[in-house]
Amino acid sequence: MTILITGAAGFIGSNFVLDWFSHSKEDVVSLDLLTYAGNLENLSSLNQNSHHHFVHGNIGDRDLVSSFLKKYHVMAVIHFAAESHVDRSIHRPEDFIETNIVGTYRLLESVRAYWNDLDQEAKKAFRFLHVSTDEVYGSLNDKAPAFSENYPYEPNNPYSASKAASDHLVRAWFHTYGLPVLTTNCSNNYGPYHFPEKLIPLCILNALNNKPLPVYGDGQQIRDWLYVQDHCSAIREVLRKGKIGETYNIGGWNEKTNLDVVKTLCYILDELKPKADGSKYENQITYVKDRPGHDRRYAIDASKIERELGWTPKETFETGLRKTVLWYLENQAWVNHVVSGKYLHWIQKQYS
Ligand code: NAD
Ligand code: DAU
Repeated sequence: MTILITGAAGFIGSNFVLDWFSHSKEDVVSLDLLTYAGNLENLSSLNQNSHHHFVHGNIGDRDLVSSFLKKYHVMAVIHFAAESHVDRSIHRPEDFIETNIVGTYRLLESVRAYWNDLDQEAKKAFRFLHVSTDEVYGSLNDKAPAFSENYPYEPNNPYSASKAASDHLVRAWFHTYGLPVLTTNCSNNYGPYHFPEKLIPLCILNALNNKPLPVYGDGQQIRDWLYVQDHCSAIREVLRKGKIGETYNIGGWNEKTNLDVVKTLCYILDELKPKADGSKYENQITYVKDRPGHDRRYAIDASKIERELGWTPKETFETGLRKTVLWYLENQAWVNHVVSGKYLHWIQKQYS
């Protein structure tokens, strides 16, 4: 079964492709526009793998997508490609509307045309799995139960609004056209290849470079963290056993305040890479201006995927974070290639 992975050179997409090949020998077509967030270096270990086909292009390019869906006889699409950073969506929402909404619409149309021409058996077996986020549900207060799949959509920032719109399009293509879709809504991921604009990799790199660790507002916002490989295993299970048209929430029951996350990172670094002058990394924590429209708390109720598909995460937050810190310490070349030109421009714009 050849699968198409969109956004395959990004953080989760690349982890998914590598994870897929560790479980399967079937062909993978990786499609990526290689925006600032896409990095072919993430997939370099597959350079000699004849089962891996990389296509540089846009999910919205109907001719391109249609041609390789046919060429490779694709039987499943896992749709990761998106603009994914909330802070960037606040500075410049347009890219988010274009990629996450219009791009997803065009991709759905290319896939629908291809799927319509398949024979009955192939049509039945085909899947379009849309990878989405818990942010579409909006913000929880401290005592509210975690987001279940039935929680109303209440997105609060341009990124989450654009992802919510894409979820609705995918749902509509199932109900109206019968396209065999699955949707997953996952909580915050962390792990290898995470672009250092996001909290965890940004703080690891800033800590090591003796720079401030920027905590927005009071640092008491809560996120629910999942190690990226656990997200990948959940997606594999949904693809294999998920019921067409259904949505599955994915999370690790790991609610942490941002301040706790940054402090835990500091303790791990104190142990693995103590500072030469004996001081603690925690001293670098700096409170900065809050994000506008900052959601206070996300929490995922993952009982449906656990109950119906038998999926559970392998890592605890502590084991996953330790692996992540070690990965960044051991992959300095990757880090050095990523933190150049345009990246520095963004950091200056956001934090100056
Ligand atoms: P990312 O920003 O690291 O990667 C996105 C990838 O998509 C990049 O490689 C980029 O080049 C590519 N891309 C962007 N526009 C494209 C286009 N028009 N055509 C083809 N490729 C394009 O994002 P990520 O963190 O890996 O997230 C992947 C998906 O998972 C997103 O849909 C995101 O909404 C969702 N998600 C992310 C998290 C998280 O914590 N990171 C949690 C839940 C869901
Ligand atoms: O919940 C899933 C979402 O998680 C995904 O859909 C998004 O694609 C992904 O980027 C992530 O969104 P967040 O906004 O939660 O991630 P980020 O790492 O940007 O921020 C995590 C928390 O840390 C958030 O409350 C904002 C805060 N923060 C972030 C940065 C970059 C800081 O306090 N300081 C920072 O410098």
